Amino acid sequence: MLVSARSFADYRAMFALTERDLEQRILDCPAGAASFVAEAGRRGVDAVAVDREYAFHREELGLMVELETRFKCPTLVREAKDFVWSWYADPHDLARQWIGNARLFRADIAARPERYIAGELPELPFHNGSFDLVLSSHLLFSYGNRLGEDFLRAGLLELARVARREVRIFPVTVYDTGERHPGLDRLREELGGLGIASRVERVAYEFQPGSDELLVLSCARYRARARTVPPGAAAVDPVRWRHREGGA
Ligand SMILES: C[S@@+](CC[C@H](N)C(=O)[O-])C[C@H]1O[C@@H](n2cnc3c(N)ncnc32)[C@H](O)[C@@H]1O
Repeated sequence: MLVSARSFADYRAMFALTERDLEQRILDCPAGAASFVAEAGRRGVDAVAVDREYAFHREELGLMVELETRFKCPTLVREAKDFVWSWYADPHDLARQWIGNARLFRADIAARPERYIAGELPELPFHNGSFDLVLSSHLLFSYGNRLGEDFLRAGLLELARVARREVRIFPVTVYDTGERHPGLDRLREELGGLGIASRVERVAYEFQPGSDELLVLSCARYRARARTVPPGAAAVDPVRWRHREGGA
């Protein structure tokens, strides 16, 4: 699986983030070598990144993505007709941006290591409701055909468990087919039965043709019904949570 390095601007568009959203405590899962948390931190946003790769590679992940992006750029040039060039101008622009983002990631993970937590879905090392808003891009539905529907269900529920307000997942299409994940409606119905209402929204970010839809899960009712700490996990508090200081 490709480890990618999208930016704060990419995330803002993919997840339709408003100024109000950015006042909240945010989890980026999986974050890969994205610079969202780095750039958000500069703006004073309380954001944390989690990825399974952080257990093995940390600062060097940024370098790996930089080298991989350089290596894959000629392939992207050859396959350019398969993608939409409205967000990125062309393959060279994409490569330039991702390399810059990977460098920001690398500097930030060195400067603020407590913001980058090793964790693997479907079991994250956080207490229930640790974040207001959870963002998840380019894993669950994107690789859904390889991960399987049971993993998807467990992953979605785990993201909902750690979210006080909302989970946003982008895109809802499968990378290999470009089609909406075949289990999307079924999973939404199951989540609805557990008190997690959902909606699909079109957003102003499209790179793979037709992949411009965001799934939003409303978690407030689910969180109230399912307060448990992951079995055997040492729950991490990477920063001093405001709601815990307030005793909520
Ligand atoms: C395509 S990248 C997306 C990164 C970032 N969201 C972005 O858009 O740039 C997918 C990431 O998922 C991570 N990953 C794969 N399986 C995971 C799992 N079970 N739990 C946590 N992270 C996982 C990989 O290490 C990789 O960094």
